[in-house]
Amino acid sequence: KFAVGITGIGSYLPEKIVTNSDIEKMVETSDEWIVARTGIKQRRVVDESTATSDVATKAAEKAIKDAGIDAEKIDLIIVATATADMAFPSTACIVQRNIAAINAAAFDISAACTGFVYALTMGEQFIKTGFYKNALIIGAEAMSKVVDWQDRNTCILFGDGAGAVMLERTEEGMGILASYLGANGEGGDCLTIPAGGSRLPATYETIESRLHCIKMDGSEVFKFAVRVMASAALKALEKSNLSLEEIDFLIPHQANIRIIEAAAKRLKLPMEKVYVNLDQYGNMSAASVPVALDEAVKKGLIKKGDNVVMVAFGGGLTWGSTVLKW
Ligand code: ACO
Repeated sequence: KFAVGITGIGSYLPEKIVTNSDIEKMVETSDEWIVARTGIKQRRVVDESTATSDVATKAAEKAIKDAGIDAEKIDLIIVATATADMAFPSTACIVQRNIAAINAAAFDISAACTGFVYALTMGEQFIKTGFYKNALIIGAEAMSKVVDWQDRNTCILFGDGAGAVMLERTEEGMGILASYLGANGEGGDCLTIPAGGSRLPATYETIESRLHCIKMDGSEVFKFAVRVMASAALKALEKSNLSLEEIDFLIPHQANIRIIEAAAKRLKLPMEKVYVNLDQYGNMSAASVPVALDEAVKKGLIKKGDNVVMVAFGGGLTWGSTVLKW
């Protein structure tokens, strides 16, 4: 008997910082508005020549080193991203080449900001069934490449980065205790990148209409997020047989401080138990949760044996949560 747990973790953030006052020079907005409405003060942005696989590789290398595993021993690589380098090959295959994980299968999954939670659950299943011994799970994004820098409704929100974990067998009672995933395609239209796929392939018109960038109905997403964050966390908690009082730390998707606070309130969790870094990085989509988890662990806020809940929501619409004993 065994459980599946995280045996290594790492994250990477590009060096370049874009502050709210930098954005004031691009669109009609203000630092005060952005901080008051979102909690975001700055975000990291990759340079022109850097793609998602580059930041994913850097995070992956740290997680592998932390786990003390040889790249050749990795069985599976899953990259969760909404900003793949290209339609194919998958970003996971590019990472596989970069780290020389020559024996690993590799694929991407698309669940927007919920991607890391989806990918973690998928990796867990492969190990649980005995199909694989381990899996490298990465959440990585170069959101700055798909943001419309002329749209103040969205360009203030997003940032770039990557986080990765090594999943392996661990002793029973440790590691992932329960997971829950959900989706509602009916609500999908409120958060999209409309063009660039088979529905609207690239034409001069799609480029002129900026349809290759993120389109969002912010208030619809906001309402959905507040509703789903707490309920998703509770669903996984229920499956884990833990009570809210037994939760030591909540790692929420970092989209908006008001969404996080509303979720914490619904869960009756004090904010001291909730990790927040969106003031520094904005919403890094699938990278938000693993970067936050890595920081909380490195800062000693999450200690061995702590019960941690990760919860996310995003385009799709999708949502999901994982309860683990660190
Ligand atoms: N600066 C100044 N004014 C702005 C800005 C800005 N950057 N952005 C919007 N506004 C204006 C709008 O034009 C609008 O003005 P109007 O009323 O005259 O038309 C007004 O502010 C909008 O006000 P609200 O709707 O009250 O703004 P709200 O408090 O809802 O905040 C926000 C907007 C921050 C986008 C919020 O709705 C939100 O965070 N939504 C969730 C977004 C999210 O989480 N997205 C990520 C999903 S994850 C994924 O999968 C990618």
